[in-house]
Amino acid sequence: MEKPHIKDMRRILIASANPLYGKGLEKLLTQKAGGILPDIRIASTMAETLAMLEEWKPDLVIVDYDDRTIDRGQFLNQFIAGDRAMQVMLVSLKASGTAVVYDRRTLSPDQTQDWLQLPIESQPSQGSVHPRRSEGMKHFIIVAVLVAVSTVLVNLLLQNIGLLPVEASTQATIIDRLFNTHFLVISFLFSLIVVFLVYSLVVFRRRKEDAQQEGKFFKGSTRLEVLWTILPLGTVIYFSYLGSLSLAETRRVDPQALEVKVIGRQWSWTFEYPEFGIVSDTLQLPVNRQVLLKMTSEDVIHSFWVPEFRVKQDLLPGENLVKELRITPTIIGSYKVRCAELCGTLHAYMESPVVVVSDVDFQAWVDEEVKLLNADPATRGERVSKQNGCLACHSVDGTRLVGPSWLGLYESQRELADGTTVVADDAYLLNSIIKPNAHVVAGYPPGVMPQSYVDSLSDTQLSDIIAFIKTLK
Ligand code: CUA
Repeated sequence: MEKPHIKDMRRILIASANPLYGKGLEKLLTQKAGGILPDIRIASTMAETLAMLEEWKPDLVIVDYDDRTIDRGQFLNQFIAGDRAMQVMLVSLKASGTAVVYDRRTLSPDQTQDWLQLPIESQPSQGSVHPRRSEGMKHFIIVAVLVAVSTVLVNLLLQNIGLLPVEASTQATIIDRLFNTHFLVISFLFSLIVVFLVYSLVVFRRRKEDAQQEGKFFKGSTRLEVLWTILPLGTVIYFSYLGSLSLAETRRVDPQALEVKVIGRQWSWTFEYPEFGIVSDTLQLPVNRQVLLKMTSEDVIHSFWVPEFRVKQDLLPGENLVKELRITPTIIGSYKVRCAELCGTLHAYMESPVVVVSDVDFQAWVDEEVKLLNADPATRGERVSKQNGCLACHSVDGTRLVGPSWLGLYESQRELADGTTVVADDAYLLNSIIKPNAHVVAGYPPGVMPQSYVDSLSDTQLSDIIAFIKTLK
């Protein structure tokens, strides 16, 4: 509550039957006023006070807290009724200078109640200002202990319900250290709010016997406000410091890092190993060796994210906008890279396998891929056919599966569903892969073969498959 400024008060009325009270206060106020002296009058009876309120219109009325001849109910009615700005100060000389200020414009119902409960002698002199201080301390200690216990329990819960996937990279360990610190702060804040709330609801609930009472009114606490501004500010600054340390740590450079170019497009990933000349749709990584991913996008913004590795990086379109990400896988296994940036219709399906293998297995994979690079198109085509599931529906030995067999297909006469006949040349084979419903062979249902190969297979892969079909005579 704002203290009235004696200097701003031009007309001050002192109401007390005790002449010493009036004279004493008058002297005190005159000293405090400094240069401009306020106009001070003293009323020694109730009737005199009310008359002066009407006629003289004081800015401030100082009432003797201990004077029982003043009818406070009547005085209160007078005070509430008016609309002129006026303040009333109840000052006690007995209870070591206790003073309560009431402002006509902001007087609350609780304060009215307080006012009528006077005189203050009926209560212990300290008690009226700090009601049952030791009682309050007792509640505070109980709540503090409950908050501490709840913090430990909530944190334990958060740590054990598997919120995070397995930590499969050096970088993940660094990130998780931050996560765990956050979990602790979250547990504390949750406990602080919920424990205080529940404790107040249960312990200070309204009981039958105090149905008529209102709670004590108070407003503002500078100490509390300073505290709850500085503590969160300090916490946030500390966390930004921890964050920048961790960021620097996840970006630590290993000169021996394996370089892999990552290309994202709607809606697939390609991984290039410039050191070996390999291009792959699977990200193969050797365990415990840092990999430097250099990432670009061919169209829109995508985002490279393997949850088990924790780190994440956007891919931007444009040759000059290559983004780098360093990962050191620590656990052998199969993972999945997901696109973490909404990039169109099939965003949800933009994922590719990530395989972490031992050094030996990685070298074997590299050798196999390199051998294949130098292989003839037909051999490559056979592999592409296997990898893309072609051979699940098309046999190479003449057996009838879901689709026509590839044996003896090249340059044969094909009878189509519409009754016409075509020769299965290069153009026909290519068209049948990328537009499977254009020329359906008689006896086979349309709409069965996926129509996505036009996007998922490269031109080289398509011509390799055709080269493989040509060898099946
Ligand atoms: Cu690419 Cu989402």
